[in-house]
Amino acid sequence: MKLTTEDYIRILETCEIKGHDEAILRILRYVELGYPVMLYGPPGNGKTTIAEHILSYIGGEDESSFLKIEATEGMSEYQVIGGFHPLAMSGNAELAQKFMYKDGIVARAIESGKNLLIDEFTRAPSSAYSGLFLLLSRDTLPLEYKETVLKKPEGWVLISTANFGDEGTFKLSNALKRRFVPINVGYVSSATEKTVISNITPDLDPEVENAIILFASETRTLWRKDRSIPQGLSTDGVIKMARYCELAMSQGFDGKSVFVDAAFHQGTIIADETDPHSIQLVQELALKIAEDM
Ligand SMILES: Nc1ncnc2c1ncn2[C@@H]1O[C@H](COP(=O)(O)OP(=O)(O)OP(=O)(O)O)[C@@H](O)[C@H]1O
Ligand SMILES: [Mg+2]
Repeated sequence: MKLTTEDYIRILETCEIKGHDEAILRILRYVELGYPVMLYGPPGNGKTTIAEHILSYIGGEDESSFLKIEATEGMSEYQVIGGFHPLAMSGNAELAQKFMYKDGIVARAIESGKNLLIDEFTRAPSSAYSGLFLLLSRDTLPLEYKETVLKKPEGWVLISTANFGDEGTFKLSNALKRRFVPINVGYVSSATEKTVISNITPDLDPEVENAIILFASETRTLWRKDRSIPQGLSTDGVIKMARYCELAMSQGFDGKSVFVDAAFHQGTIIADETDPHSIQLVQELALKIAEDM
């Protein structure tokens, strides 16, 4: 996959996600070198959007130029690579003939020459991906159920996204981990977030805007310091707070109370909801910021 300087610039300029230029550059270099990448980091900071943006650009700004699957806990090799269709066991000969096997998403991508996004990779157990090994190391995909071997198309791009260590995720097997280049997509700076929300909510009261940005950065500090909460507020959360506050204030409510209101909603998302201490910590933080408004 050859990308020109013009391509790099266009991809950066047209990306909805701001503040991740470094990460995007790294991804593009590896894509150009033909290595699969895995974007990882805390939820809600633009991993999926960045991956889709890049794949869509590479496919000529065409969303249907790549395939996408969102991994789930129950996913197995059948969905990823393919296998015999349950109806192949049907007593009805016609049905059995018609539904012999089903290609998984990877087989379909390779067969149609489409690039692939595996979103939320670590939500599925590593066993679901066993068929990927040969593809990523030898460029071939054996399909046992069809007795054929597919060859990886020239310039084929595979991007995945993942939350490491998040609840409800599986630990990646080492063998699988080595086959992706991990690229971190973390929290962006407060300055970037200010620009983002000024664009999305131009009528937001500046004092409330500052309070939201401060709340976000303080929750991230809490998370970094001693993991007293499982994650900081995401940029997605910041945007939701800003939009909620802008709307509620336009309905006549005061800034302080709508800020606390929104902070409590987002606080419940980022805190460990089964741990009253964790929720209390975030709520106290919101009240303290509101006091100084
Ligand atoms: N840096 C950013 N600049 C602009 N918008 C952002 C940024 N980060 C997140 N967003 C907003 O948050 C939304 C959610 O992002 P996205 O779903 O891509 O995150 P994610 O990292 O894939 O989250 P998850 O881990 O939950 O899947 C985006 O559609 C975008 O509107
Ligand atoms: Mg995502």
